[in-house]
Amino acid sequence: MNYDVESIRAQFPVLSRKMGDKPLAYLDSTATTQKPLCVIEAMDDFYRNHYSSVKRGVYRLSEWTTSHCEATRAKVAEFLGASSPDEIVFTRGTTESLNLVAQSWGRKNVRAGDAILLGALEHHADIVPWQILAEEKGAEIRVIPCDDDANLLLDAVPGLLADGKVKIVCVNQVANTTGTVNPVAEIAKLAHEAGALMCVDGAQSVAHLDVDVARLGCDFFAFSGHKIYGPTGIGVLWARSELLEAMPPWHGGGEMIDQVTFAKTTYAPPPARFEAGTPPIAEIIGLGFALDWVRSVGLAAVAEHEAALLADLRARLGEMPGIRLIGSPRDQSAIQSFVMEGIHPHDAALILDEEGIAVRAGHHCAQPVMERFGVPATIRVSYGAYSVRKETDQLVSALARVRRIFG
Ligand SMILES: Cc1ncc(COP(=O)(O)O)c(C=O)c1O
Repeated sequence: MNYDVESIRAQFPVLSRKMGDKPLAYLDSTATTQKPLCVIEAMDDFYRNHYSSVKRGVYRLSEWTTSHCEATRAKVAEFLGASSPDEIVFTRGTTESLNLVAQSWGRKNVRAGDAILLGALEHHADIVPWQILAEEKGAEIRVIPCDDDANLLLDAVPGLLADGKVKIVCVNQVANTTGTVNPVAEIAKLAHEAGALMCVDGAQSVAHLDVDVARLGCDFFAFSGHKIYGPTGIGVLWARSELLEAMPPWHGGGEMIDQVTFAKTTYAPPPARFEAGTPPIAEIIGLGFALDWVRSVGLAAVAEHEAALLADLRARLGEMPGIRLIGSPRDQSAIQSFVMEGIHPHDAALILDEEGIAVRAGHHCAQPVMERFGVPATIRVSYGAYSVRKETDQLVSALARVRRIFG
């Protein structure tokens, strides 16, 4: 494979940092990815040379900004295989996108006695918004179980849908704890056969898999810019136009209206209806550059590179005594969680930090997953387009030090 990881790394200034006297080994791309220079420079250029608001001005600066934000919307649509840029709603991130679906579509369409079906490997962002809705409406939450390797049990889905009460099925395409690549297209098909909609949390998939919402056959798809080499504070909700057209607004304010009087307000068509207030303009521009960057590298090449790193990591962790891998799914993205016998993940992560290694230790906003695997927390290693084997080497020798310290 002709994948020039060193030239990719050179585009990420932070990766050449030292943590004390140790090189930084950034193994936490699942929490957030680092940013390439093109994104940093695009945002800097916007603030220096073009800064203005969108839609409000007829002057050239504002026209520049509006057209660049709308160009990003078109890029996102193309990136996801959406049929139109109007199907792309800008939000603050996956969390806000999922709350939008629950609060707008959900409040209109879910009633007492209905059910919402979630995957067993969901992040809290794909659990709590549905629980808030379910509590308000008197609806029930159901869960697709997973096996001990962290594969969702597809065979259980028809039974969970059989009584026709489920209105929406919500599953992540990649689980942030176990890296499981979930069979969302198959689940979407089953959901539709049972008259339910399918909402996909794509926070952990967009930077690793080629996503095509039409091929997935889903109805909603959410992701965050900061997990795909873009800035924080910007995210996306994609939904089929007919759904967006029929959904009521959820945040009220400027830009989302058609006409306002004190007696009554009428609303703008989507996507503006769901974008109240001044948007995160620099972040939208940064996201556009991030998507261009990802396309220039090619997700297939990134995925192949990450798969080799993951296979090597799993083999080496497997040889270390006292390490339990959490999840060995059939199809696994660039994420591996594990625990070390007798050592709390936080204690281990503190020692790893002394060695320059950035990993996440905790419940990863997925407490039900921790409960399923009988652990309070895990250490999680995750890779991105810029990750290299020498970071795994650094990790493996630091884990040996952790073991020596905690004996
Ligand atoms: C699977 C998954 N869903 C949702 C989220 C929430 O994303 P954000 O915090 O960017 O809204 C995350 C973040 O880690 C995630 O991993």
